Amino acid sequence: MLYCFFMANLRGFTKSFFRTKKVEDIIKDSEDSKRRLKRVLGPFDLFMLGIGGIIGAGIFALIGTAAAGDNLRSGAGPALMLSIVLTSIACLFCGLCYAEFASTVPVSGSAYTYAYASLGELIAWIIGWDLLLEYAVGNIAVAVSWSGYFVEFLRTFSVEFPRYLAVDWVTAAKHPEISANAPHIFGVPIVFNFPAVFIVVFLTVILTLGVKISSRFNITMVFIKLAVLFFFVVVGLFFINPENYKPFAPNGFMGIQSGAAIIFFAFIGFDAVSTAAEETRNPKKDMPIGILGSLGFATLVYLLVTFVLTGMIPSKNLNTAEPLSVAMRVVNMNWAAGIVAFGSIVAHTAVLLVFQLGQPRIFFSMARDGLLPSSFAKVHPKFKTPYIATIIAGAFVAGGAAISSLEEMADLCNIGTLAAFVIVCLSVLILRYKEPNRKIAFKTPFVPYVPILGVIFCFYLILGLPKLSYIRFGLWLLLGLLLYLFFGFRKSKLKREVPNET
Ligand code: ALA
Repeated sequence: MLYCFFMANLRGFTKSFFRTKKVEDIIKDSEDSKRRLKRVLGPFDLFMLGIGGIIGAGIFALIGTAAAGDNLRSGAGPALMLSIVLTSIACLFCGLCYAEFASTVPVSGSAYTYAYASLGELIAWIIGWDLLLEYAVGNIAVAVSWSGYFVEFLRTFSVEFPRYLAVDWVTAAKHPEISANAPHIFGVPIVFNFPAVFIVVFLTVILTLGVKISSRFNITMVFIKLAVLFFFVVVGLFFINPENYKPFAPNGFMGIQSGAAIIFFAFIGFDAVSTAAEETRNPKKDMPIGILGSLGFATLVYLLVTFVLTGMIPSKNLNTAEPLSVAMRVVNMNWAAGIVAFGSIVAHTAVLLVFQLGQPRIFFSMARDGLLPSSFAKVHPKFKTPYIATIIAGAFVAGGAAISSLEEMADLCNIGTLAAFVIVCLSVLILRYKEPNRKIAFKTPFVPYVPILGVIFCFYLILGLPKLSYIRFGLWLLLGLLLYLFFGFRKSKLKREVPNET
């Protein structure tokens, strides 16, 4: 008898892990007037939001590692252009799936919401938790990179920023002289990345003030960064030496694969457009334009920049944090290096803004479903923004950026994002199968092939990441699972609506 009781409870318990939320209910919840965001964004805003989120640290900083390699992996060399094509194809498959969901279930939770509708609560939670890696951890990486470029930029005006106030703890531990020069409080050296903290706090304030003002700020920055990249390409063209393209793929296919995995970071961001779905006037039409348009445009820009950069200097010399500026310096164009550094700072700022916009909106959706404390779903009465979630996301990223290093955070962000992409592709397959008659605003073409190829490509890119990031990712998911069991599982709104499930 005890056995039957145990089995019945276990069945109820596991069944509730897979409870799904109906698409109609998801949409209805998003229309709750107390928790409604303002629909003010159009297709142009979304396209610019996509470009804002995509073009940043990846093309201005990590492109160097992707071409030259580092102590963990080999680089692609000039064949990085092929890596970019590979990655863009993977992102296109996933982008099509995102566009289908974002236009059909236009709420702010992105992959989290899509998983809730198709794969069930547990996977949805895991993906919501996993998206923290994409948005918040990704932003820690970008904020650290921002700081590097900022300090470098100040140097062009002969301003030397104190090292102990612009360094992560790993670097500080490797260089004891940094801590030795720092001021001490109660014997503890004050060492942290002040510029990274500053920029995150500044953007958090803007994002709290409203989505439209954030969008305007983003549009201005996107124009500046595109102008600077255009400038880089045009000036750099004059310094191309065809010898630098030889050998084209110094590390063969391995190098191309790891180059693709690293440069994947440069593509992340098109999916962030989907988190603005609840603030979009006509998501059915505008979401696909924003997601796919920005992805296509960024691919073109990346191919041009890589062609010029790998033609300017030998790829093996590119393993530096500021490869575009370095390339300009190598060809004795110091003034141009300054312009590129400035453009990079602006590009990084735009990425930070878009990701800091995305993270709270995922928190917001999860809290609305009862999987996070309800204060995360509070909308500011005047600014109509999810201000508490915005401030919490800002504090998390600022805290992380104060002490973390770039590459480790970028790898973690890559694996987290690829996992989310896999789930979105699977969700399209499952929802199409479960609800074949559902009216879909934007249809992913060639289903099931496109989502399946999306999954395969994502796994291919995951294989190119360092093994250490798998372990970190596993630990992160485990922590998320525990949190779900202790909080989300018990507080889930869906559970309260269907109480007899456990
Ligand atoms: N795609 C973003 C960047 O490259 C994350 O900074």
